[in-house]
Amino acid sequence: MEYRGYDSSGVAIADGQGHINVVKKEGKLANLDALIEQVGPDNLAGTTAIGHTRWATHGRPTDANAHPHFSFDKKVAIVHNGIIENFAPLREQLINDGVEMASETDSEVAAHLLAQAYNDGETAGDFEASALKVLNQLEGAFTLLFVHADHPDTVIAARRSTPLIVGVGEGEMFLGSDVAAFIEFTKNAVELGQDNVVVITKDDYKIMNFDGTTAEGKPFTIDWDLAAAEKGGYDSFMLKEIHEQPEAVRDTLAGHFVDGRVVLDEQNLTEQDLKSIDKVFVVACGSAYHSGLLAKYAIEHWVRIPVEIEVASEFRYRDPVLDSRTLVMAISQSGETADTLEAVRHAKAQGAKVLAVCNTNGAQIPRESDAVLYTHAGPEIGVASTKAFLAQVAANYIVGLALAQAHGTKYPDEIAQIWDDLSAIPAKVSDLLNCEDAVLDIARELGAIRTMLFLGRGVGFPVALEGALKLKELAYIHAEGFPAGELKHGPIALIEDDLPVVVVVPSPRGVKVLHSKIVSNIQEIRARGAKTIVIAEEGDTDVEPFANWLIRIPESSTIMQPLLATVPLQFLAAEIARQCGNEDIDKPRNLAKSVTVE
Ligand code: F6R
Repeated sequence: MEYRGYDSSGVAIADGQGHINVVKKEGKLANLDALIEQVGPDNLAGTTAIGHTRWATHGRPTDANAHPHFSFDKKVAIVHNGIIENFAPLREQLINDGVEMASETDSEVAAHLLAQAYNDGETAGDFEASALKVLNQLEGAFTLLFVHADHPDTVIAARRSTPLIVGVGEGEMFLGSDVAAFIEFTKNAVELGQDNVVVITKDDYKIMNFDGTTAEGKPFTIDWDLAAAEKGGYDSFMLKEIHEQPEAVRDTLAGHFVDGRVVLDEQNLTEQDLKSIDKVFVVACGSAYHSGLLAKYAIEHWVRIPVEIEVASEFRYRDPVLDSRTLVMAISQSGETADTLEAVRHAKAQGAKVLAVCNTNGAQIPRESDAVLYTHAGPEIGVASTKAFLAQVAANYIVGLALAQAHGTKYPDEIAQIWDDLSAIPAKVSDLLNCEDAVLDIARELGAIRTMLFLGRGVGFPVALEGALKLKELAYIHAEGFPAGELKHGPIALIEDDLPVVVVVPSPRGVKVLHSKIVSNIQEIRARGAKTIVIAEEGDTDVEPFANWLIRIPESSTIMQPLLATVPLQFLAAEIARQCGNEDIDKPRNLAKSVTVE
């Protein structure tokens, strides 16, 4: 689970004789491994354990702030994902009760509260009742796991807004924030609902609501295999995932064009609902947001209805105008991003219809949406999004075509033509992957870089933003993406001798003026000393005189070009990162794969 957070990690193991042993360490999981070796695995024996990898919210990434957290009497250990929003008054109350806090985290209060509930009062001696009492005191978003030294065969866990899945083995039971935690041991899993508590023993699981009444889980079989979650011979998951992009796009498209008609999957939206939509709002974060920008271009072009797009964290705080004829598209690889989830909830509360584009079956965002279109990129482990981004773009285009079909703004033969263009993309991406060595050479030739600009026009602009984001994330280099035409309104002042600038050039067979304008933009920056890395279609000779380096991409229609032009930028960022000495591109500093806090 390290991709979810890796600033510290730890485990707590009940030894079955009235004690819990906790080992935890700041830094990557390897540090914890080393500590366990030092303590001696035999000294940590037990058959009930909880573990955690942390992405710090409250308190620095230190040993003390690492999870699990102990209660004052060392009888309870807990791990927590999310934020306990009312931790401050709870902490104050515990300090007034004489409890000494061992960490700066919001999480620790849960351990002490459980020990208090178990030791005294009407829930005394009852682990389950004590856990329910504590859970009902907490506000915010949390997945919590509790173990108690006197109940060494039980783990009690709960979720509110953050993920938790049960893995059902034979004579063993698992809990995980996602299935990758236990995929090696079982393919049988159970999805929990919102505000559910689960009590597991080795043979059984029991699901309840926070008031103790019985609740039902939703069993499912995991269709990912372990190999899909391993590196498969590549140096990093990210490089493996870049190479998996042809399949990611192909699998995402599969089954969505049947007998000449575009079909979506889990649908509680009828054709009539889609027809009634008069405005689309896209909400997403980071790379998913960039894919959403492309949804805007495609839907406005194909369906002729307005599309607004907003980063999810801003959406609900500025009172967007939504009604029952608005379709809100929530795009999320993980399906758990708190900012996007809250935007979904806001949209639903305002009566809008919500369609999720998601890569993770059964995650919270699709569960709370009216309809889902799953991307089939498979597990994406590298923190920086690659194949999930391309799959999102493909899925967004499917949504655009479904809307065009419902609105009758495109004839069936036009939709079939666009579908053909889209279906041709996986093979073109496969060809394009051959550019890897040439792009790596460019990265090496660039030498030391302080800053880098990315320019595009039309659908090339989101590609420029995505290229800049990849470089920031992986190489920790300042990078900006701009619409090329905007450069002269300010950013051109940044151009100096040898500044590397990536330019994404639209197809010369598309909007002619756009192509010739960007060729002029390249000349403007070259004249001011920039070194240009030009991404242009095969056969586009106009750009040749102005490119220090030229990366060729296969011919495509204009709207499909981002599915190609993004790929070399992924390689470029990965290699510049390596040149800068960042060897572990799968886990860039300060980031987490699934951001379940707002
Ligand atoms: C960038 C990246 C992030 C995510 C963003 C949204 O490489 O991975 O910007 O795209 O955090 O995550 P999801 O798609 O899971 O909602």
